[in-house]
Amino acid sequence: MMEGFHQPVMVEETMSYLLQDRPSIHIDCTLGDGGHALEVLRRSPKTFVIGFDVDGEAISVAEKRLEPEFGGRFLALKADYRRLPEVLATLGVPRVDTILYDLGVSSRQLDSPERGFSYWGDGPLDMRMDPEKGTTARDILMTYSGEELARILRDYGEERFAGRIAREIVKAREERDIDTASALVDIVKKAIPVGARTGGGHPARRTFQALRIAVNNELGFLQRAILDGFYHLRPGGVVAVLSYHSLEDRVVKNTFRSLSESGEARRVTPKPVTPEADEIERNPRARSAKLRVVKREIRHDRLI
Ligand SMILES: C[S@@+](CC[C@H](N)C(=O)[O-])C[C@H]1O[C@@H](n2cnc3c(N)ncnc32)[C@H](O)[C@@H]1O
Repeated sequence: MMEGFHQPVMVEETMSYLLQDRPSIHIDCTLGDGGHALEVLRRSPKTFVIGFDVDGEAISVAEKRLEPEFGGRFLALKADYRRLPEVLATLGVPRVDTILYDLGVSSRQLDSPERGFSYWGDGPLDMRMDPEKGTTARDILMTYSGEELARILRDYGEERFAGRIAREIVKAREERDIDTASALVDIVKKAIPVGARTGGGHPARRTFQALRIAVNNELGFLQRAILDGFYHLRPGGVVAVLSYHSLEDRVVKNTFRSLSESGEARRVTPKPVTPEADEIERNPRARSAKLRVVKREIRHDRLI
């Protein structure tokens, strides 16, 4: 279990788009340890923050951290942001001012070996953001066909050796359970030619990313979710998305492009904003971050 809190990424950059000086509602779709939410609460004293997370541990960490000081302006919900429309309807909140999606995995999840997200350590291959439900990485590795495993590795990991790794997984599982991070790392190392292993980081990085995306269905419905958020904005409201790999960024970019082409939104960041070198030095996990922001156009307000 990790000590301290997840370090929020590109705080100054995101805050420059999210802060409001009048009474407003901010939705943090991926609350995590509440790092970004804390900055909004501190710097926008008239803003009410509603935080979503599917991970019960994240919810309790953020509640303990934020409730004592900001309880009157803060509500944490254990809920999937893909259910935002029904959750807001239940709360009686038709319109909001700002929304943040900080996609991907938190350091708390990565650094807890028992959650199985990381290739270091020897955790069970779980990888569920919500450990209370759904299919684990082990289930996928042990039951999916070789073809489907190769597709997952190729589509979600952009893994050049997807076919070889999938074949090695199918071979290995005939002999024993693939149920720990280290067992999977050994299989990947066996499948990737040594000559191809120089540079590019850990050889299992792409495999772990691909499995995590598959386990949590991270790309499915991402566009739908962002659009659902967007259509709950008041005119002039803002959606900001922080993404961490090219597949996610592509979905965000295309979604924002189509909103801007239809005249419903203005791209506040025509090019993605990336972290400064000193932030990457302080927090290497910020390295791949990209921030994109759109503003809902006032003249094209579409009523929901
Ligand atoms: C990068 S972390 C967010 C960190 C946060 N901004 C902070 O400053 O502490 C991403 C979080 O999103 C959560 N998450 C992932 N998919 C989700 C979903 N579909 N709905 C709600 N939360 C989700 C994860 O459980 C994780 O805690």
